[in-house]
Amino acid sequence: MKSAPWWREATIYQIYPRSFFDSNGDGEGDLAGITSHLDYVKNLGVDAIWLSPFYTSPNKDGGYDVANPRDVDPRFGNLDDVQELIAQAHNRGLRVIADIVPNHFSDQHEWFQDALSAGRGSKERERFHFYDANPDGTPPNNWISLFGGPSWTQVEDGQFYLHLFDSSQPDLNWENPEVHADFEKTLRFWIDLGVDGFRIDVAHGLVKEDVLKDHPDPQGLSNALRLDVAMDSDKRNALLLTVPYFDRQGVHEIYRKWRKLFDSYGDRQIMAVAEAWVHPPINATRYVRADELHQVFNFDLLTAEFDSKTLFDVIERSISLNATVDALPTWALSNHDSPRVVSRIGGQEARALALFVFGLPGSTYVFAGQELGLPDGQVQDWQRQDPTFFRTHGQIKGRDGARVPLPWSGKTAPFGFSAGEPWLPISQSWENLTVENELADPKSSLHMYRKALELREKFLVGAGGITWLESTHHGSRRDALLAYSRGDMTVVMNLSDLPQEFEAVGTLVMDSGGTVEAHNGKKLIPPRSSAWFLA
Ligand code: NOJ
Repeated sequence: MKSAPWWREATIYQIYPRSFFDSNGDGEGDLAGITSHLDYVKNLGVDAIWLSPFYTSPNKDGGYDVANPRDVDPRFGNLDDVQELIAQAHNRGLRVIADIVPNHFSDQHEWFQDALSAGRGSKERERFHFYDANPDGTPPNNWISLFGGPSWTQVEDGQFYLHLFDSSQPDLNWENPEVHADFEKTLRFWIDLGVDGFRIDVAHGLVKEDVLKDHPDPQGLSNALRLDVAMDSDKRNALLLTVPYFDRQGVHEIYRKWRKLFDSYGDRQIMAVAEAWVHPPINATRYVRADELHQVFNFDLLTAEFDSKTLFDVIERSISLNATVDALPTWALSNHDSPRVVSRIGGQEARALALFVFGLPGSTYVFAGQELGLPDGQVQDWQRQDPTFFRTHGQIKGRDGARVPLPWSGKTAPFGFSAGEPWLPISQSWENLTVENELADPKSSLHMYRKALELREKFLVGAGGITWLESTHHGSRRDALLAYSRGDMTVVMNLSDLPQEFEAVGTLVMDSGGTVEAHNGKKLIPPRSSAWFLA
């Protein structure tokens, strides 16, 4: 029997290179810092690492503004450092996923600089979306940037260029064959250097329609796209169906071509995961049709409340939608764009939810620091770096809190992360959350993650689908318990503030905290905790 490809149920550890470990004392994490901590990563029990961008970049958007996609920014090291990192990862059986950013370049990329100097009507400008102003001098359309402010910036000769994100991130024109050729070259470049896969940034945004047409409600649309803006869900969903620059049919043609490129590497099983925020949810599955990409992120758990109905719906929907294209879901509780799960739902709850999710079919993403139970860091306005903060004039605080560097060891901030001043401050209150401390504490979040990933690998990967347990009456909002069985494992989560009786089959093999006690021939599951029972 042919074994499943490595990525199908992989646990993937997301590293934000600037915040992982600083090897040279300049206050920013780097590639050598990652390489020197691969044993820590391996011992977590993950299968692969995903590296957020480390390419040449003026760093206006945390490296998602790429000035040279085939080189390394000096702040992170050089190409030899990447090769060493990959070699050391592979020696430990860890795969490496690179982050590719095809929607836009940095304005410092030579193509954009050439476009500026070549002027209107030039071939160089056709690689981006350059248009003349409207007769009244306004931009070609009324779209609002996802980071706030207009989506268009004017250059000296009066033309405007489109940028869905910061003005330093001009969108590429995917109607232009040169753009296709350049990205294929970039993909091959990194595969030839040894990477095993790609996370595709803004995978749903490459193709735009009606670039010269106004949106009827640009401010409404902009609010609908912001998860932190409250809005009636029917209204939000209706607006999300009208995004003129996301999820157009043309993107799928691009991924079909890329899939052929990946498959041409045969046994290396090169994989790709799409960052695609699309609506309605079924559309996400189009990215993982058999001839397209391998995985698509499911972002629902990044915003889901700690509530049995919500979680049941999110999990059930993701499993069933993916099944329509014979794919498995992906799960993520945190990433570099969202508040950390501990800050969002609470520490105990975050542990319970992680343990519950680790039992599910599919692939799980863990954002570095999540295993330690880190909350968002406290960042003062003067320390902020996220372009959303600047483009909204401070109205939106941005994503820096989730990007504060990791605490490693010792009693004093910055806890071994750097010999210098960290680029974002690490709070002294993280003293008990260092890797060193948690390794020494059998009750720590880190120990829970390590044990769960070990048991997951042994008993759950490849164990097929889940069966929701009827005793839990899932689906009604007030339920205290959610439970499922999968293979020989029964997984239960108590979402309430009181201990709950549960008729468990098998032996308790792990829990997320508290003490599971026997009670009336059943088990008493502590408040806001999860447990695994093995038959
Ligand atoms: C999604 C990335 O995750 C985010 O960090 C970035 O700002 C935008 N795409 C633009 O590249």
